[in-house]
Amino acid sequence: MRISVIGAGYVGLITGVCLAKLGNEVTLIEIDAQKVKALNDRVPPIHEEGLAELMGQVDMDVSSDHQKSRHSEVIFICAGTPSNEDGTVFLGHITAISDQISKVLRSRGDYCVVVVKSTVPPDTTEGIVVPILEKSGKKCGKDFGVCMSPEFLREGKAIYDFMNPARLIVGECDKRSGDTFLRLYESFDAPILRTTLRTAEMIKLASNAFLATKISFMNEIGNICKRLHIDVYDVAEGMGLDDRIGKKFLNAGIGFGGSCLPKDIRMLKTTAREVGYQPRFLDEVTNLNDQQAIRLVRLAKKHINLEGATIGLLGLAFKPGTDDVRDSRAIAVVKALLGEQALVKAYDPLAVENFRKMFPNLDYVSKEEVLNCEAILILTEWEEFNELDYRGKIVIDGRRVARARDARIYEGICW
Ligand SMILES: NC(=O)c1ccc[n+]([C@@H]2O[C@H](COP(=O)([O-])OP(=O)(O)OC[C@H]3O[C@@H](n4cnc5c(N)ncnc54)[C@H](O)[C@@H]3O)[C@@H](O)[C@H]2O)c1
Repeated sequence: MRISVIGAGYVGLITGVCLAKLGNEVTLIEIDAQKVKALNDRVPPIHEEGLAELMGQVDMDVSSDHQKSRHSEVIFICAGTPSNEDGTVFLGHITAISDQISKVLRSRGDYCVVVVKSTVPPDTTEGIVVPILEKSGKKCGKDFGVCMSPEFLREGKAIYDFMNPARLIVGECDKRSGDTFLRLYESFDAPILRTTLRTAEMIKLASNAFLATKISFMNEIGNICKRLHIDVYDVAEGMGLDDRIGKKFLNAGIGFGGSCLPKDIRMLKTTAREVGYQPRFLDEVTNLNDQQAIRLVRLAKKHINLEGATIGLLGLAFKPGTDDVRDSRAIAVVKALLGEQALVKAYDPLAVENFRKMFPNLDYVSKEEVLNCEAILILTEWEEFNELDYRGKIVIDGRRVARARDARIYEGICW
């Protein structure tokens, strides 16, 4: 099929590259000129396992010209939906793109389907995107179709996840929209749930809120276990044997970060408040997560006076396998350490350049230099951290790195 993907970030780029690999004719439309240049030079602007190889194998048209979508049968909206300062969601990219598509629709005589893949609050597709598209003079459900199909890929495993989805959620304004969209996925063997646009939007938010809840829940259990000298990882293993609970997302630590879980739970809470419901449970999931990063710094203070001390950080990315630092727990830890007048040195195999944009004055060093600091805080579970020699060091571990236990003083955040 002929498709356009608007917004070539983590989601859009992976969607475009994978759909091209599956034999579709793909146009990527991206506003950021630097990204367009990088993509045209076949240089991946993000780190993602297997992406560079795949980009070398496929042909895609990459441009910042929205008119390029005028022959596409399916047009994906994959722009970011970040939080505003006040916790509400910024939908400016979604409305701007909808406006651009509307201009394209005006001059089109054929049918196409617009698919919202970005994570948006319930009613965004129906209440905001569709009315903007209809400014073209064309009618949703007649001249064009609309779907909302949330993305569930994990950064670091994005290509695998796209090619092997656990499920396809298809919110559709009508059957023809869903049928057209699903032609793209004919070769996939995943359960498909076809539903309304608003339900699809809510499934995404509820899924991420549930994952965040699992993490905060285990962190709370871990905080209790630590006081009782019980190993929370053994507890998790025992719990996970019950398939109603499941084994995944039971790792206690310094909590969740990234571009999705914190933002999506914020989006859900704001939505709840807007309809007059106080989401007390979800508030607590976030509070626990915020406190967990601070708890790590408090544990460090048990062993070292932070004022003027050189503290080394291992890991800045929100999780291993990515260079993404959005809402990474490292941000809260660095702020707390700087607040204590500590001198911070940091290492990450991939995420330094992204972190530097937020903290340009931090001392970014090699992992060997981090090991020479007065105390070491482990913030991301990169595999290479399990190969370091921690003997003689003070280590406060937020991610359960086995080798770190060789340290002279070792303290786990909730073990
Ligand atoms: N990153 C993830 O792991 C992930 C997973 C599932 C869902 N999501 C959701 O998918 C959406 C996109 O996330 P992302 O991480 O890919 O965001 P991103 O910020 O990495 O990428 C968005 C891209 O859209 C581009 N863009 C913005 N306005 C544009 C315009 N008018 N025209 C063309 N391009 C434009 C930006 O320049 C950027 O490159 C978000 O809603 C996010 O919550 C992300």
